[in-house]
Amino acid sequence: MKILSFETSCDETSIALIEGKGGFQKPQFKIIKEIVSSQIKIHQPFGGIVPNLAKREHQKNLPFIFKKIFGELKPKKMPIDLLAVTIGPGLSPCLWQGINFSKEISCHYKIPLMGINHLEGHIFSLFLQKKFSFKFPCLTLIVSGGHTEIVLIKDWFKYKVIGRTRDDALGEAFDKIGRLLGIDYPAGPEIEKRAKKGKIEYSFPSPMIKQKNFDFSFAGLKTAVFYQYLKEGQKSDNLSEEKINNYCASFQKAAFEVILEKTLKAATCFKTKQLILTGGVSANRTLRKEFEKRIKERKLKIDFFAPQLKYSTDNATMIGIVAYFRNLKEKAKICPKISAKPDLGL
Ligand code: KG4
Ligand code: ZN
Repeated sequence: MKILSFETSCDETSIALIEGKGGFQKPQFKIIKEIVSSQIKIHQPFGGIVPNLAKREHQKNLPFIFKKIFGELKPKKMPIDLLAVTIGPGLSPCLWQGINFSKEISCHYKIPLMGINHLEGHIFSLFLQKKFSFKFPCLTLIVSGGHTEIVLIKDWFKYKVIGRTRDDALGEAFDKIGRLLGIDYPAGPEIEKRAKKGKIEYSFPSPMIKQKNFDFSFAGLKTAVFYQYLKEGQKSDNLSEEKINNYCASFQKAAFEVILEKTLKAATCFKTKQLILTGGVSANRTLRKEFEKRIKERKLKIDFFAPQLKYSTDNATMIGIVAYFRNLKEKAKICPKISAKPDLGL
C-alpha cells in the first residue's frame, strides 16, 4: 500500500511517500521519497518558534515539496492508496496548513485521508528499524519540545499516560537554558556537544525525583540555572567557553537524572518488556547511552529502543507509518471532515 503523508505541526514541513506491507505480524516499510524542510534559520533570531511565521513557511513549503516529489502541482494521476496528515498536538495555524493541503488532494483525487496523532507518530518511528516489533506491555518516554510524557502501551493503539511534565517540556527547558547561555535555537544538540566537553561544576536540582509519582517539573531547575548564572554574571560579563560548557554539563546531568530514574522506576513498576525513548530529545546520545547502561547495570529484563537519529525529530515518514497500521483497523474517508486538535493527547 502506498501512503503519502504530511507533517506540519511545528517548525518542520515534511512530506513522505512510503510503501507499507506485512500487516501487524510482519510489517515492512519502504521509503520512496521523504523531504523534511526545517525552518530553524527563520525562527533562530527570535529564540523560539513564531507561530504565524511558521504557518507562512508551511504555506510556502508544502506546494514546493510536493512539486519536488511529483514533478508538478496537479499531476494527472496520483497512484496513492492512502493520505495521512498530522492533526495534533501542535500549533493550530501550522496544523491547518497540512490539513487543508492534504484535504484538497483527497477531494480532488478521491483518495482516503486519515488524521494522525503526532505523538503516536514519534512512537511508530521505531518501525523504521528492521527488527522492531511491539512486545506488550511496552513503556515509552516521549521527550520533545512540546511534550514530556511516560506512556504505557498496553496493546496496539491502547495508551495510558502515567506521568507528564507539570510545566516545561524537557526540550523546551533545553531551549530556554540555551537562550540564557547564548546558544541558538534549538539548543538541544549544542548543549549535548558542550556537555561532553564540560565538567559537572554545579549541582543543580533534579525536581520531583523523590516524589512517588511519574510526573516531572523543569521550571525549578531552569530557575536554579538562571540564578547561578546571574550570580556569576555579576562577576564577569562574558562567561568563558569552559564555563558555558560546565553549565551545559551540569544542567543536562540534573535534567536527565530525573528522567532516567522515573522512567526506569515506571518500567519496573508496570513490568514492561520494552522501553522506547522517542521525540526530539531522544536524539541525545548521552541520554540513550545512560538508559542502556542503567538497564544493564540493574539487570533489568527490558529491551531498550530509540529511533534512528534522523527520525528522532519531526518528519512525515512516521505519520505515514501510523496511518498504515491504523488503516488495518479503521477505514479512512475521502474528503473527510477533519480539524486541527492542538491539544490532542494519546
Ligand atoms: O520532536 P521535536 O522535533 O519537535 C517537537 O515536537 O517538539 O523536538 C524538538 C526538541 C527541541 O526542543 C530540541 O532542542 C530538542 O528536541 N533536541 C534535543 C536534541 N536534539 C533535539 N535535546 C537534547 N539533545 C539533543 N541532541
Ligand atoms: Zn515532535
